[in-house]
Amino acid sequence: MHPIMTTQASASIPVARRIGGFVYAIRNIVSEARKVEAAGKKVRYLNIGDPVAFGFQPPPHLVEAVERAMRDGQNMYTPSPGIASAREAVAADFSRRGVPVTSDRTIITAGTSEGIELALGALVDAGEEVLVPVPTYPLYTAVLAKLGAKAVFYGTDPDRGWAPDLDHLRSLITPHTRALVMIDPNNPTGAVYSDAVHRTLVDLADRHNFVLLADEVYGDLAYDGARPPIAALDPDAPIISFSSLSKAYLAPGWRAGWMAVGRSPRLDAVLAAILKLADGRLCANGPMQHAVTAALTGDRSHLVPLRQALRERAQVTVERLNAIDGMTCVAPTAAFYAMPRVALPPGRTDEDYVLALLRETGVLCVYGSGFGLPKDGGFMRVVFLASPAELGAIYDDIATFTTDYLRRG
Ligand SMILES: Cc1ncc(COP(=O)(O)O)c(C=O)c1O
Repeated sequence: MHPIMTTQASASIPVARRIGGFVYAIRNIVSEARKVEAAGKKVRYLNIGDPVAFGFQPPPHLVEAVERAMRDGQNMYTPSPGIASAREAVAADFSRRGVPVTSDRTIITAGTSEGIELALGALVDAGEEVLVPVPTYPLYTAVLAKLGAKAVFYGTDPDRGWAPDLDHLRSLITPHTRALVMIDPNNPTGAVYSDAVHRTLVDLADRHNFVLLADEVYGDLAYDGARPPIAALDPDAPIISFSSLSKAYLAPGWRAGWMAVGRSPRLDAVLAAILKLADGRLCANGPMQHAVTAALTGDRSHLVPLRQALRERAQVTVERLNAIDGMTCVAPTAAFYAMPRVALPPGRTDEDYVLALLRETGVLCVYGSGFGLPKDGGFMRVVFLASPAELGAIYDDIATFTTDYLRRG
């Protein structure tokens, strides 16, 4: 018999200091929404970019591919970089879009997120620097915090359609810069960058010999049609491209994505390091990899009505938010996000405004500082995936609330 153990200490067990830097406002803010719900108010969640939560569904042939894989016994671990058919489909898709890449330089990942984490893990040591846009998708800052590396923020300018401030970006490059993150089309702003911006970003990575991490998860969701991958400008530049089934193929919960490491021999060691890290996590979700093959080799006609639905919602959003006194909103040209700005009364933060909006109307958005913008900037991100009618009702509430909030001062 073992002696009965008695508790020796009651102090809380400490966590790693790095966790302090791991902040993900898009989900963190949900705890506030739960309190509002517990108090009996209906919450309308405009915080997470999940099309399925708003009634969109993946194309049926993708669901069939996953189902068939499961029934056919494809439930084993896959090779860590992914099943051959999916890797070949990714390679063929990039090649068709102007980026000749062989399947041995593609990796199937648990979403874009895992690809980003693998690439940053392979690239940066503690203390090294990665150029990250502001506002940013918060995963970048969070992963860099976990790695003990440094996010160095370059500005993007709402007065120029949220284009990157290239002079600012250039001024931040140091010998410690290991990578440059580009998110295009952009979350949280809905911006699409010009070819001239693309050329400069590729040129900077090429000349300074750091990696351009091209987050193109919204590439197929530009309202005017799919954007070519930035790597098509120069397939020999040091570029790693990322995307997934989450947005354009409407299956975020499947956690199925891919990355393509450019063909430049400069990236061979990085590719080897990524593959090593990928071995450590065994593989991405097996059955869902079959949907990657189906998505990239099959019918994509769902994209036409999807883009149209997004364009329509973007128009409602921009018209309605710009009609509110004290609010301005740059028109998005892709994806399902807008980043309006409220002229905050002195002393108020974006978080004050967003929390008051939540408590008084039940509308949940994310404050701009959750994406790295200044707290007094007055920005917030709106996810406009709800139906135009629902959005109309939500914007009515935002208008009434904002007018009152600004009057209160
Ligand atoms: C810019 C950006 N990158 C990556 C992701 C993560 O996507 P995934 O579901 O493919 O991991 C998102 C999700 O919202 C995103 O907006």
